[in-house]
Amino acid sequence: MKVLVIGSGGREHAIVKALKKSPKVSQILAAPGNPGIAQEAPCFPIKVEDISALIALAQKEQVDLAIVGPELPLTFGIVDEFQKAGLKIFGPTQQAARLEASKVFTKNFLKKYKIPTAAYEVFSEAESAHQFLRDQASRKWVLKADGLAAGKGVIVPITSDEAHQGVDRILVQKEFGPQQLVIEEFLDGEELSFMVICDGIEGLSLATSQDHKRLFDNDEGPNTGGMGAYSPVPLVTEELSKEIMRTIIAPTLAGMREEGSPFTGILYAGLMICKGKPLVLEYNVRFGDPEAQVILPRLESDWIDLFEAALSKRLSSATPRWKNQSVIVVVLAAEGYPANPKKGDVITGLDEAEQTALVYHAGTSMQAGNFVTAGGRVLGVTALGDTLLQAREVCYQAVNKIKFSGMQFRQDIGKKGMK
Ligand code: AMP
Ligand code: GLY
Repeated sequence: MKVLVIGSGGREHAIVKALKKSPKVSQILAAPGNPGIAQEAPCFPIKVEDISALIALAQKEQVDLAIVGPELPLTFGIVDEFQKAGLKIFGPTQQAARLEASKVFTKNFLKKYKIPTAAYEVFSEAESAHQFLRDQASRKWVLKADGLAAGKGVIVPITSDEAHQGVDRILVQKEFGPQQLVIEEFLDGEELSFMVICDGIEGLSLATSQDHKRLFDNDEGPNTGGMGAYSPVPLVTEELSKEIMRTIIAPTLAGMREEGSPFTGILYAGLMICKGKPLVLEYNVRFGDPEAQVILPRLESDWIDLFEAALSKRLSSATPRWKNQSVIVVVLAAEGYPANPKKGDVITGLDEAEQTALVYHAGTSMQAGNFVTAGGRVLGVTALGDTLLQAREVCYQAVNKIKFSGMQFRQDIGKKGMK
């Protein structure tokens, strides 16, 4: 099989590496890819949102299967367009991708199908949102811009002033574009990413993982795209996993069928576990990044078998085998990330780190024969171990070999998983 991987981050590098292990895959192409991916597969400089150019590439190269990493092309309808052109592609249709593209759609959907989530109200006008916050001043709220905002459209205000400013940022200054505002009850609990591969009818849970969204240790500092992850997560017992499948995933898949937009692809539920009970914070319609970097290497069996089973609605009989090992990824971020990541700093020590760990590229580029920083999250250093403790040791030893000016990373990735 010839497989095209669409995207340019650490997640796509992990997809490429995972597919390389498949005996069924004869060639991998990537678009646009990144300098790390380019070491393993030819990369074509096509933007992920340039769907017609991606179709032309898939046709010219006679690609047998395309796999989409990021949400943007999914919400633009890349799956619908590939299918119209007679090309096989793994991911949800544009209608199904509304689960990530619109928080208003998702909250209304969750309410309609009685799927546990935080209480909420939707606002289009600032004054009524301010009034709501004044009326409900004794409770804590979270503010969310309706549409895609590259992980930045959620404001968790500490003070009432911040909450009112947040309303204005979303509805008056329109910081995230012309958007509706969702005001949602603040939930206190343990956050969890739960990923499921879906064939439109059935969902099969993948290995568990937990992201670390804040920039600094002990979950302090600003929110980021994710500073690291580990798998498996001891918090997710067999029992909790069954409850998530029963109360959240199954009714979501049934509801999406009912809505005429069955979900095929990776469904990522961002959950809050409150007093043992799972509630949906958000849906994403693709692998998490950096969660993919720890889940993909944990599959012992072939990813292609799973993707193919999903595309032919055979997931109910799929039997993935997971490694009985722990995996951790530590993200190395550029100076100034997340507000203003600096570019162009020379990266050293990659070869040394790669002796013991997998190093996924995310925001790198090549300059005069050197790898340099070119994005917020620069690299993801990943290690496997028989225990999480062992994986952490190997991972952080490798992290310490890599250097670039202003490099930021968390020292406490995976610590929660060892309690
Ligand atoms: P989201 O993009 O919806 O996952 O939100 C980004 C982050 O904001 C989440 O990972 C949580 O840490 C936080 N968050 C979102 N919604 C809530 C909520 N209702 N209660 C508490 N924290 C939340
Ligand atoms: N790590 C969070 C996400 O992929 O959305």
